[in-house]
Amino acid sequence: MMPPRDTRVERGSPVTTITARRRPVYQRRSGRAQYCRWVPQEDHVASARAVYDASADHYVEFVGTEISAATEAPVDRALLVAFVDLVKAGTSRRVADVGCGTGRATAFLAKHDLDVVGLDVSPAMLDAARIAHPEIRFEEGRLDDLPVEDASLAGVVCWYSIIYTPPERLGDVFTELSRVLNPGGHLLLGFQAGNGDPVHRTEAFGTAFSLTSFRHSPGDVCNRLEHAGLEVRATALREPEFTHEQTPQAFVIARNG
Ligand SMILES: C[S@@+](CC[C@H](N)C(=O)[O-])C[C@H]1O[C@@H](n2cnc3c(N)ncnc32)[C@H](O)[C@@H]1O
Repeated sequence: MMPPRDTRVERGSPVTTITARRRPVYQRRSGRAQYCRWVPQEDHVASARAVYDASADHYVEFVGTEISAATEAPVDRALLVAFVDLVKAGTSRRVADVGCGTGRATAFLAKHDLDVVGLDVSPAMLDAARIAHPEIRFEEGRLDDLPVEDASLAGVVCWYSIIYTPPERLGDVFTELSRVLNPGGHLLLGFQAGNGDPVHRTEAFGTAFSLTSFRHSPGDVCNRLEHAGLEVRATALREPEFTHEQTPQAFVIARNG
């Protein structure tokens, strides 16, 4: 079985439908009282959560819990280091790794002396992250609705976590990331590049669930970032280097306006 970050399996359309449901979410906004509201749990979020909850053990086995040369090419690691340096040039070291999975990038950022929290929609992945990195804080959160106060972060990393968000919903995610970043705060994205095409998998990663990922277009991602008030500062595209990679890998660094 391939690591969940890979998009090798492309077989037909989903056979399992995960019913949309509504759940309570606590919103934290600086200067305002906490309140509770009901938000729809869209299929793409519920699907990712179900698959990662069911495949966390496999993810640990195949991708591990650390950033390493076995899973990240030199360019990938260089961009993570660049993100660290950009954050350290500012006054705050408070950052988040959103879609943290087993905490691989979270631990990388912590080792580079950033004050990092890992956020993910999958409780099972968060449990795996806590076991691997007990010294780091991990919490449940989703890309478009983060349990983080306004303008409170100097940086956010989304390392292969926007790949389950349909292109037309990326605007919601980037608006939310802009909300939590302080002025001048930096965002680092990593994702498989393409034309925004969906990749459908049934029985994703050996689970009973279907899952759709998206090979986002770097140009489309940049346009949507700028529209959300995030200024694109750097982009990189590298060719596939690992056997599990089928497409170029894209990286974008943006700065909050
Ligand atoms: C391919 S894994 C990458 C995990 C980690 N960043 C890494 O590089 O090992 C994608 C992760 O994003 C999480 N995820 C997917 N959609 C999400 C969303 N809408 N909000 C928060 N996390 C999400 C999944 O639960 C999973 O842990």
